[in-house]
Amino acid sequence: MTMIYDPAHPVVRADPHPTYARLREEDPVHWHPGLRCWILTRYEDVAAALSGPAMSPDRLTPFYAALPGETQSLLAEMMRYLNLWIVFRDPPAHTRLRGLVAKAFLPGTILSFKPLIEKIVTRQLDRLAKKDEADLVADFTMPLPALVIMAMMGVPEERLYDVKGWSDDIMLFIGTARATPDKYERARRGAVEMAGLFREEIEKRRADPGDDLLSLLIAARDEQDRLSEDELVATAMLLLFAGHETTTNLLSTATLTMMRNPDQRARLAASPDMASTAVEEFLRTEAPTNAMGRVVRTTHEVRGVTLKEGDRLFAIINAANRDGSQFTDPDKVDVGRQPNRHLTFGQGPHFCLGAQLARLEARIALPQLIERFPNMSPGSSPPVWLDSLVMRGLKSLPVRTGR
Ligand code: HEM
Repeated sequence: MTMIYDPAHPVVRADPHPTYARLREEDPVHWHPGLRCWILTRYEDVAAALSGPAMSPDRLTPFYAALPGETQSLLAEMMRYLNLWIVFRDPPAHTRLRGLVAKAFLPGTILSFKPLIEKIVTRQLDRLAKKDEADLVADFTMPLPALVIMAMMGVPEERLYDVKGWSDDIMLFIGTARATPDKYERARRGAVEMAGLFREEIEKRRADPGDDLLSLLIAARDEQDRLSEDELVATAMLLLFAGHETTTNLLSTATLTMMRNPDQRARLAASPDMASTAVEEFLRTEAPTNAMGRVVRTTHEVRGVTLKEGDRLFAIINAANRDGSQFTDPDKVDVGRQPNRHLTFGQGPHFCLGAQLARLEARIALPQLIERFPNMSPGSSPPVWLDSLVMRGLKSLPVRTGR
């Protein structure tokens, strides 16, 4: 098929679903000549790519190895940490690290932070209530998850804009292939500064442990094993990084989806106990994790197409989540949909460790948002979507608060 999928095209950025539908139907194992990688769009293939042993999530090592020597030297300090992120590791390193990190992420621990999340949500909504017009992203959905994960780790909230800046800079390396001036230098600086912050915080917590996530990570033990200093720093960086932008995107697109589907918003407003199924439906219909990268570990065939060892691919979660073989009426938003086996948190050994936290934040924030702002409506300018293949979300969402 000659169809070219251009994730950066403004029409595709605003609504990629028709393109995904065509790919799913006509060319489910699509070779993208520009990106030089495979694009998988069917539910079964995406699920297999995310969970199966034929694929590796370690796309950094080959990418780094192909960079010119001087760029490698520039990025060496950043790679020291990224190489320890469980999300990029294969077994056995993944199994060991995940086992230790999961000890700080037990369901009861996450639930114990509920009052903290409620407090932050109320405070941020109080601030929003002072405005007639707002950018929901800058004023609510960006600060909320970042403040939550920072508070859970005991990072002072006045560091919010530092943390946000560093994360955005690291994202230049991980999240986009686009040529941004200084992108490697900025990514390096972001990683080094974030690592510096956590080194200080870890030292403080060693001297004076609390019940925050950092203290729990320091204390996590498995028989004789524990996280090394670098692993602690790297994991804290990953949690901060993974813990906010995805959830920001979920909250922003969920709000937009409700404004575009007032009947569904009215259902949720009438029955706030539908929050659980509603959040799953928002996760399904606009997954913040648009695409997950993988590297083919062993040559194999998918639908008669040979994927060779070393080939790169993207498994498009937003395409899988609307596959008609899995979901009835897949393009329809139904806040009561059950079952809803979307792939937004991944599948298999790398299934999102923060899924419970993200769900909790959204189940608290969204019903409160619609209760306090029943007349919220689109603002004077249109929403701006992120220019990214791996992330789906909004850069800005102008709204009239209707207060
Ligand atoms: C709506 C919000 C979120 C979405 C959509 C999301 C999605 C995902 C996905 C798809 C993966 C699997 C990656 C892969 O297979 O390559 C993942 C892994 C991960 N997520 Fe999330 N995530 C969200 C929120 C969070 C939060 C709040 C945290 C923590 C504070 C978190 C921490 C992690 C970690 C540590 C991993 C790595 C797990 C592993 O590799 O074993 N995520 N996430």
